[in-house]
Amino acid sequence: MADRAAKSGTQSFSRIKGTQDILPADMPQRHLLEETIGAVMGRYGYREIRTPVFESTELFQRSVGAATDIVNKEMYSFEDQGGKSLTLRPELTAPVVRAYLQNNLGKELPLTRLYYLGDLFRQERPQKGRHRQFGQFGAEALGSPYPEQDVEIIALAWELCRAVVPEGLDLRLNSLGNPEARQAYLALLKQALAPHAAAMGDRDRQRLETNPLRLFDTKDPDTQALLDEYAPLISDNISDEDQDHFGAVKAGLDSLGIAYEHDKKLVRGLDYYSRTTFEITSAALGAQDAVCGGGRYDGLVAELGGPATPAVGFAAGIERLLLAAGEAFRLAAEQPGLDVYLAVIGDGPRAKAPSMAGALREQGVSVMLETLRRSLKAQLREANRSGARYTVILGEDELAKGVCTVKDMADGGQQEVGLEALAVRFAELLAS
Ligand code: HAM
Repeated sequence: MADRAAKSGTQSFSRIKGTQDILPADMPQRHLLEETIGAVMGRYGYREIRTPVFESTELFQRSVGAATDIVNKEMYSFEDQGGKSLTLRPELTAPVVRAYLQNNLGKELPLTRLYYLGDLFRQERPQKGRHRQFGQFGAEALGSPYPEQDVEIIALAWELCRAVVPEGLDLRLNSLGNPEARQAYLALLKQALAPHAAAMGDRDRQRLETNPLRLFDTKDPDTQALLDEYAPLISDNISDEDQDHFGAVKAGLDSLGIAYEHDKKLVRGLDYYSRTTFEITSAALGAQDAVCGGGRYDGLVAELGGPATPAVGFAAGIERLLLAAGEAFRLAAEQPGLDVYLAVIGDGPRAKAPSMAGALREQGVSVMLETLRRSLKAQLREANRSGARYTVILGEDELAKGVCTVKDMADGGQQEVGLEALAVRFAELLAS
């Protein structure tokens, strides 16, 4: 291809790093996943919402947090012709909250349950399970401060992930407490680690200054060792009410038989969380093992200009889930079948073929038509390759007699069928 392009003087193009072409063979499993998401979300009473692919840059700065990796290093931001700074959405919670406020959804119902499915953009270093454009689905419940709502969201996330990856998933939870307790904790954390800042790498030393909670996401073993030795843990420093809330979330999960681990170092990479945070990981994945993440974000709606509204939600990565699911889910997804390959030989049949195919399609029969004017032999080979259940052959002699030959590809049996009766005959054949 490249040679041909070079010879003809034209340029050839490749996908942008970190993006993917989702080819036809991969679509059935995506469709099955989308159907599963719609069905399960519907059973929990969540309704779908779709928001624009880009939003104002400030929306993400104010919600995800100006000192987070996502906002600092990973956003695809650009100025439009009017000089306004826009960003391709790196996550969907903030856009959903923006849409909830702008469309007054909170006025319709005291509790709003929404779900979504869409593509996100983060300029991360691409690797297995990590892309720059990737799919996510998720749910947000806006309105309830109570632990039963956290439990519902976690159970929903767990059920959906398990529908795709039945084995090898783990659920980890933590509580980050309320924002006031968090401020006190952050001061404590800084104080405990400041004497050891010199032993940290540049990036972690900067995190200690700007966003010390993020230190718990570090991949640097030296910082990890420092944290193990000196860092107080947030869930040991939250208020009694926050402890009660967390206890009730755990009890709710116990009563549903959902196993979890309390991971005291789970902080998550976005700033809007308060109280419960959780992650679902897959043992089948490597370094990027989180298939789903979420938590409570009681301050975000007010931060984005709305009335104080407690909320909790989750989002799961589509590529990572499919990667963790492996072949089993791919095989469970049905490849779309073809009913008829219509082989035609000669000018008369070729002219007749489109209206014949049209009549069959009107009866719900799927038809693939020869448009390459190949020999009958080549067309029959193509019919075999196409996986069609039947091949319909129409030559000049048959057309003159008003019939065609119908070949059953499973047993090779052939019969002549009148052209007038063909569509009805097929509707019957395929229904039986
Ligand atoms: P998040 O942890 O940033 O949370 O993303 C959720 C999931 O998206 C991850 O667990 C992962 O499966 C997938 N993901 C993230 N980045 C990538 C990437 N570069 N390539 C492939 N998959 C990726 C959020 O986005 C929050 N909005 C979740 C939430 C909803 N919290 C409350 N409500």
